Amino acid sequence: MDRIDFNGQVAVVTGAGGGLGKAFCLELARRGAAVVVNDLGGSTTGEGSSATFADAVVDEIRAAGGQAVANYDSVATEAGGAAIIETALRQFGRVDAVISNAGNQRNGRFGELTEADIDAVYNVHVKGTFFVTQPAYRQMVKQGYGRIVLVSSQSGIFGNPIRANYGSAKTAMIGLMNVIAQEAPPGVTVNCLFPNATGGRLGGKPGDVRPDAEFLAAAGQRSRHYIQGMQPDFVAAMGCYMASRACDSSQNMYSVLGGKYSRIFVGLTEGWYQPGSVAPAVEDVAAHLAQIDDRTRYDVPRSGLEEMDTVIAAQRRLGLA
Ligand SMILES: NC(=O)c1ccc[n+]([C@@H]2O[C@H](COP(=O)([O-])OP(=O)(O)OC[C@H]3O[C@@H](n4cnc5c(N)ncnc54)[C@H](O)[C@@H]3O)[C@@H](O)[C@H]2O)c1
Repeated sequence: MDRIDFNGQVAVVTGAGGGLGKAFCLELARRGAAVVVNDLGGSTTGEGSSATFADAVVDEIRAAGGQAVANYDSVATEAGGAAIIETALRQFGRVDAVISNAGNQRNGRFGELTEADIDAVYNVHVKGTFFVTQPAYRQMVKQGYGRIVLVSSQSGIFGNPIRANYGSAKTAMIGLMNVIAQEAPPGVTVNCLFPNATGGRLGGKPGDVRPDAEFLAAAGQRSRHYIQGMQPDFVAAMGCYMASRACDSSQNMYSVLGGKYSRIFVGLTEGWYQPGSVAPAVEDVAAHLAQIDDRTRYDVPRSGLEEMDTVIAAQRRLGLA
């Protein structure tokens, strides 16, 4: 395997003042990228700001002989997103890769989440991802090249308790990926990463009273088996691959958990087909549910059009088309 490098390339990583974002930046810079290290530097729930976190990462990259510049804008405003990408263009002249990684959490039971809890998390994860990737995407279209990596979470696609705002916001990134992939020109890819790692600030401080103590205990019991694979650099290996020239496929979802690297996909069962123009009764649906649920054979549509093709395939199987 040829060495994967970022020589001559420019990468932007949001929320890169610590945890995973820092690990992405160090690896990208080590492999030759000029890096924009963005971090608002506030609390893990999203309040406040500080230059300390991003500056420390930039210092570390420069001390190792790499190229980096700090940016402290919030991803959660359109002006902030524009300023982050502008920093890359002003300092380095292009944007080859963007890793949308900034994140906050305001956990609470579903019935107790406030509008403020929902807005705070959606503003960073959903709108923040738009605000950063839109100006980056425009530049990538001009260049005819770009790599967009959206950092999602198992909390949404598989589900973890007390994170209804966070989990649903992270799952919005999947829809965003699917739609960008329909529009993007060849050369511009967009993929989702589902990381798991210790060392981020989002995990909370020791001694915090948390409503998900039971979940954390169950997760802790499992992770004892693979804790050595929970270092951020395990995730950085996949994230940097996805941000590199080597990753020329788009609209894929990859999970990294405890040293295990997997593809996540959305499947559509072969299902049950009701031909003609008479709609089935509710009882007909119930009677065919085992067939509808049967996961023995499935398709993995990569667009709405491909889902439509599966109906035509079902008609063909039944000799109707
Ligand atoms: N660590 C994990 O196990 C895990 C699992 C699933 C998903 N994730 C996701 O990975 C990403 C990184 O997580 P981490 O564990 O390294 O946590 P982290 O808290 O160390 O990193 C998130 C960073 O985002 C920054 N940030 C928050 N709001 C911002 C804003 N508006 N603008 C710019 N920066 C902002 C924070 O200051 C923080 O440094 C997050 O998106 C998180 O949701 C992490």
